[in-house]
Amino acid sequence: MSTENTAHELALDHMTVRFGGLTALDDVSLRVPSGRIVGVIGPNGAGKTTLFNVICGFVTPAAGEITLDGRAWRPRPHQLNRLGIARTLQGVGQFGGLTVLENVQVGARGHRSTGERAGREEKSRERKGREKRGREKQSEMDALEALERCGVADYAHRLPGALPYAIRKRVELARALASRPRILMLDEPAGGLDPEEIRWLAELIKGAGTTVLLVEHHMDLVMSVCDEILVLDFGKPIALGTPAEISADDKVTEAYLGAAA
Ligand SMILES: Nc1ncnc2c1ncn2[C@@H]1O[C@H](COP(=O)(O)OP(=O)(O)O)[C@@H](O)[C@H]1O
Ligand SMILES: [Mg+2]
Repeated sequence: MSTENTAHELALDHMTVRFGGLTALDDVSLRVPSGRIVGVIGPNGAGKTTLFNVICGFVTPAAGEITLDGRAWRPRPHQLNRLGIARTLQGVGQFGGLTVLENVQVGARGHRSTGERAGREEKSRERKGREKRGREKQSEMDALEALERCGVADYAHRLPGALPYAIRKRVELARALASRPRILMLDEPAGGLDPEEIRWLAELIKGAGTTVLLVEHHMDLVMSVCDEILVLDFGKPIALGTPAEISADDKVTEAYLGAAA
């Protein structure tokens, strides 16, 4: 088959989101081809997190369409893991009562909360127990591997609340990676990190081996890792292009200078 018509892995077409009188996204279209790193930047309140929330099914758009693998798709939060889509939350956002390992296990693909499948099939108690232990083991292994990849395996049995912010950001990344996603969505992963941590993060993103959608405030990071960048300003797409094209775009500079003023 010809590859000419290869469908984009994920695409947004003419997305509009309103919160009452506020238009948080205004006719936004974006193509995310397989294996690419696509960035979304823009000043605070530009609609970046809202864009993520639309893709995750947390927010219902007033207009627009999403396609996944070339097919119309209506996202639902509980299906994301199974479809191979994982996101980090802006900030940290871990359950304080669970250890780091348990938090990351929640993100692992094999994980099912206790009782979720109860009653669906008639199985012997013994077989159910065996399968559950197998899944737990697998999700634990996936979680540990993700923690190692993020350089925080030593903290597996600690409670996240007591850990430094930069470590918790890494745990948040590990939680998303534990599901071995094909599409990784990162919402301001560099927020609050120092330059050395940000360099580490850049390497991790470039080497993730997945499609990445990166929302970020930190321009250097975005410019160094992204293949393509969408710039939003007050919900409107004002530029789309390569890092070189974006940094030479007057509208972009204006939006950022305007925001800083
Ligand atoms: N659930 C919500 N209800 C009402 N307003 C919201 C909601 N989520 C976001 N907004 C508003 O939408 C705009 C875009 O927000 P957001 O997507 O969080 O921006 P960004 O992530 O680019 O900083 C902001 O004005 C914000 O206050
Ligand atoms: Mg945001």
